Amino acid sequence: MIKDVKKKLRVAVIGCGRISVMHLGSIKMLDEELVCVCDIKPDRAEEAAEKYGTKAYTDYIEMLDNEQLDAVHICLPHYIHCKVATEAIKRGVAVLSEKPMDVNYEAAEAAVALAKERNVLFGIVSQCRYNNSAVLVKRALEAGKLGKIISARSILTWSRDDAYYAESDWKGTWDKEGGGVVIDQAIHSIDLVNWMIGDEIKSISANLCKHSNKICEVEDTAEGFIEYEGGAVYGFYCMNNYAVDEPIEIILQCEKGKAVFDYDDAVITYNDGAVEQAHQDFSADYNGGKDYWGFQHVRQIRQFYAALRGEEPLDISGEEALKTHKLICAIYENGTRNGKLKSRNA
Ligand SMILES: NC(=O)c1ccc[n+]([C@@H]2O[C@H](COP(=O)([O-])OP(=O)(O)OC[C@H]3O[C@@H](n4cnc5c(N)ncnc54)[C@H](O)[C@@H]3O)[C@@H](O)[C@H]2O)c1
Repeated sequence: MIKDVKKKLRVAVIGCGRISVMHLGSIKMLDEELVCVCDIKPDRAEEAAEKYGTKAYTDYIEMLDNEQLDAVHICLPHYIHCKVATEAIKRGVAVLSEKPMDVNYEAAEAAVALAKERNVLFGIVSQCRYNNSAVLVKRALEAGKLGKIISARSILTWSRDDAYYAESDWKGTWDKEGGGVVIDQAIHSIDLVNWMIGDEIKSISANLCKHSNKICEVEDTAEGFIEYEGGAVYGFYCMNNYAVDEPIEIILQCEKGKAVFDYDDAVITYNDGAVEQAHQDFSADYNGGKDYWGFQHVRQIRQFYAALRGEEPLDISGEEALKTHKLICAIYENGTRNGKLKSRNA
């Protein structure tokens, strides 16, 4: 925890690819000290360093050893998230890692245990939980206004074409990305539903398949059925070989009403006829990037920094994120066993 709450936090971003702009822009917007950036590709590190007026590194170990950092933001390929987080945690540096936690469960669990043992803050990005729509529905559930969730569904139909995979040296591979549409895109909608239900999982049945001739190895389509201990059931469908990025659709059928929401809007219709709505406020907080990344990185990063200063508990800790990570890993375990694709561990 940072004792001097007025001091600017000394932070760094590791990985200067596509998503890094959401972190770099947020750090600037929140007026913390961006001490340095790091990317194994020197041109990316230097370009980001120049744009944001800071120092560039190509070796994150050298960076961690040279700089007295309060926190690092991990914006790296999935398979090295926990490896890099562990190096930071060992040095007492707080970590905010992009989703997913890693490509397997064990690495994530070990990193969470280490952070707990060393008393170092470890957060995982799941920025869609900060959408106004998700906040309205979660608050209604927590207040008991909707009663228990009886059944839930989510649908995600997005577009990730060959060009998207061709420009990456890690996406579309089992070993480095850990999967396709489930672990990379649908993780957000699956996390929202799993967070809303907030119960232990009783059983999972899932199917993964690759329908079109993408240049990648991983699934482009998945569906699954999840039963929770308390009786709720959740069905999901996702594909990333659609023509465009349609808004996601989530519906929760609850004891006292129904919630229908996507990333931008939510409508809750209670059984007594009352209606509550929320809409995204695009003028607040948003700091650039793609629409389908959502708009709330800055809100989550602000919350992470407040936790680092000891002002409030961390919302999405490693421990909290493990709940959805466990579900994602179980979907792959079950889906690759049942479906047409070879296991990511094969
Ligand atoms: N939260 C969201 O909505 C959202 C959206 C997009 C991506 N992401 C996540 O962000 C992460 C990064 O995705 P991206 O699309 O920016 O990928 P990217 O490939 O564009 O960027 C990753 C960067 O990491 C660098 N890198 C790789 N190995 C490194 C190492 N050992 N040391 C330093 N740098 C290294 C690469 O050179 C690259 O520049 C992923 O976890 C992805 O799932 C999250």
